[in-house]
Amino acid sequence: MRLADAAPEELARLRRVWLESGGLLVLPGQDGLSPEAFLRFCRAFGPLEDNAKYDPDFRLPGHPEILRLGNLREDGRYRSLFVRAEPGDIQWHTDDSFRCPQPAGSIFHCLVHPETGGGTWYAGMAHAMDALPPSLRKRAEGRFAVHSYAHLDEVLRRTNPHRPPLPFAVRRAHPPVVRPLASVHPETGRETLCIPVCHIASVSGPEPDEAAALLDELTAHATGPDFSVRYRWRPGDVAVWDNRSAMHAGSPFDETQPRLLHRVTFAGPDALLSA
Ligand SMILES: [Fe+2]
Repeated sequence: MRLADAAPEELARLRRVWLESGGLLVLPGQDGLSPEAFLRFCRAFGPLEDNAKYDPDFRLPGHPEILRLGNLREDGRYRSLFVRAEPGDIQWHTDDSFRCPQPAGSIFHCLVHPETGGGTWYAGMAHAMDALPPSLRKRAEGRFAVHSYAHLDEVLRRTNPHRPPLPFAVRRAHPPVVRPLASVHPETGRETLCIPVCHIASVSGPEPDEAAALLDELTAHATGPDFSVRYRWRPGDVAVWDNRSAMHAGSPFDETQPRLLHRVTFAGPDALLSA
């Protein structure tokens, strides 16, 4: 399907397929998709966000809804959001779970990509919840996690020294959000795990060591080979994921090679506001 030519009813069908998929829809081969046509496609999924919390240089000029991701540099400065991924250290997350409402979903359009490396991991949290061992489910139910932008910033700055500290005004505008570990998708009604580990500053419970161990055990289960996949990008690929039912994470690539993706996030029902 050529997204640039898709009729409104086709786009509505794609949104239904996306919801039913459990969290990830990939549409390869969209070479030549203009920013305007990409945004038209994105609007079929929900109201678009404006990337106000990012460096304005990272937004596509004339299209603030599009955030540039990758290692694009001009005049010695990054002109895209660059987040380094380290080998063996997969930073599982959903986008902006420290906000409420968080973006319901995110969309990538790959423009330039190295032949190897730089893939994105995805893990289905509704599928993982369905298969959760009863003993682990019992420990997760009724537990809560603190999702913190400041915590994420600390995690990222360990491996991304080029990243400036979060300004106080941004921290103040994004206080931590408390979310249950065992959640319910606000549109499908499916039970999901909500465990974006690099956003989680702490898990509730009287014993901190047990709480940390619980998060580790849930993550090991939910990101195992039965529920996760690494997508290898090629220019022209488009992917839509559901931040309420899928985690994702970057992977390392040769930083001497150019990598550029356009990202859009869109609004929608949040489990916290729909309970
Ligand atoms: Fe992300």
